[in-house]
Amino acid sequence: METVVSGIRSTGKLHLGNYYGAVQNFVKMQHEFNCFFFIADYHSLTTHPTPADLHGNVKQVLVEYLAAGIDPERATIYVQSDIPEIPELYLFLNMNAYLGELERSTSFKDKVRSQSDNVNAGLLTYPVLMAADILIHRATKVPVGKDQEQHLEMARTFGNRFNRMYNTEYFPEPYAFSFTDNLVKIPGLDGKGKMGKSEGEANAVFLSDSPEVIRKKVMKAVTDAGPTEENQQKPDVISNLFSLMKVVSAEDTYSYFDDLYNKCQIRYGDLKKQLAEDMILATAPVRERINDIASNAPYLSKVARLGAEKARASASKTLNDVREIIGFRHF
Ligand code: TYM
Repeated sequence: METVVSGIRSTGKLHLGNYYGAVQNFVKMQHEFNCFFFIADYHSLTTHPTPADLHGNVKQVLVEYLAAGIDPERATIYVQSDIPEIPELYLFLNMNAYLGELERSTSFKDKVRSQSDNVNAGLLTYPVLMAADILIHRATKVPVGKDQEQHLEMARTFGNRFNRMYNTEYFPEPYAFSFTDNLVKIPGLDGKGKMGKSEGEANAVFLSDSPEVIRKKVMKAVTDAGPTEENQQKPDVISNLFSLMKVVSAEDTYSYFDDLYNKCQIRYGDLKKQLAEDMILATAPVRERINDIASNAPYLSKVARLGAEKARASASKTLNDVREIIGFRHF
C-alpha cells in the first residue's frame, strides 16, 4: 500500500484554503492509503517563535484535524516535534542541499520580502525540513495545495540526490496529490491572492468562525462596479468569489449566478449572501465538533501519544537504514 504524508504548520486556526487544499484530501485518503498526518510545529518556528502561543497552536490544528474527520485509528496523527528522527534526517539532507537552489525557492523569496528583519537559516532550509518530513516515511503521495508544488519538487531533488550519492534506490519519489484534477488554490476575500493566515483576518474564513463572522467577512469581500458587457471576462476580485462558490456551493447555484453575471444582471449582494450561507453549511459539521473535541484533554493526549508511537516506529526504521547507508557504525 502506498504511503501518504502531509502536514500543516501550527500557526493558528485552519482556514478554507487549508481545508479544501489539504484536509479534505486527508480525510478521503485515510481509507485508501497508509497515512501520516502531522502538525508541523518545528516549521512554525521559522515565522512564529513565541513560546506562549506554541502549544495552543499545536492543539488547535490537532483538534481541527479530528473535527474534520481524520480518524486516529486509521491514519497516524502526530506532532512533528515528537519525532526526533525528523530533525536528524534533516541534518543529513542539509549536507547535500545547496545554497543556490534554496535561495531560488519562491517561498523563501516571499519570506525575505515579508519578514526582512528575520531572514533566518530555518527559512532558507525550510524545504529540506519538509523533505525530511516526507522522506522519513518514504512516502510517495503528499496531499497539498498548489502553493506547495515547488516544495515537492525540491523533496524529490533531495531524495534523488541522496540515492545517487550513496548509489541506492532507498527513497521513492514523492508527488503532490489531490483528488481534484488540479492542485487546489483557494482565493482570499480581499480580491488579491490566495487565502492565507498571514494576509490578515478578513481575508480568510476559518473553520472555527461562527456563522455571524462568516456572513460579515463575506459581505465585506471586495467587488467591482459590475459587468458592463455581456459575457465579459471576470476581473480577479470577481472570479475569486466565483471560485469560492465553485468549492462550497451546488453546481446549479454556481451556474445561476454565472448566467446572471454574463447577462449583466448580477447583484453582488445576492451572490455574497448565498456564498456565505453555503460556506456556513459546508463547514458546519467541522465547526460543530471543534468545541467538544477541544475540551476533551484526555482524548487529545491519547491521540497524540498513539500517533507519536506509530510515527516513531516508521521513522526510526528509516533513520536506521539511512545511517547504515551513509556509513555510520556503532563501536
Ligand atoms: P501550510 O501550513 O501553509 O498550509 C497547509 C496546507 O494547506 C494548503 N493551503 C492551501 N491550499 C489551497 N488554497 C489555499 N489558499 C491554501 N493555503 C494553504 C497548503 O498547500 C498545505 O497543503 N510547508 C507546508 C507544511 C508542511 C508539509 C510538510 C506539507 C511541512 N512539512 C510535509 C506536506 C508535507 C505549509 O507551510 O503548509
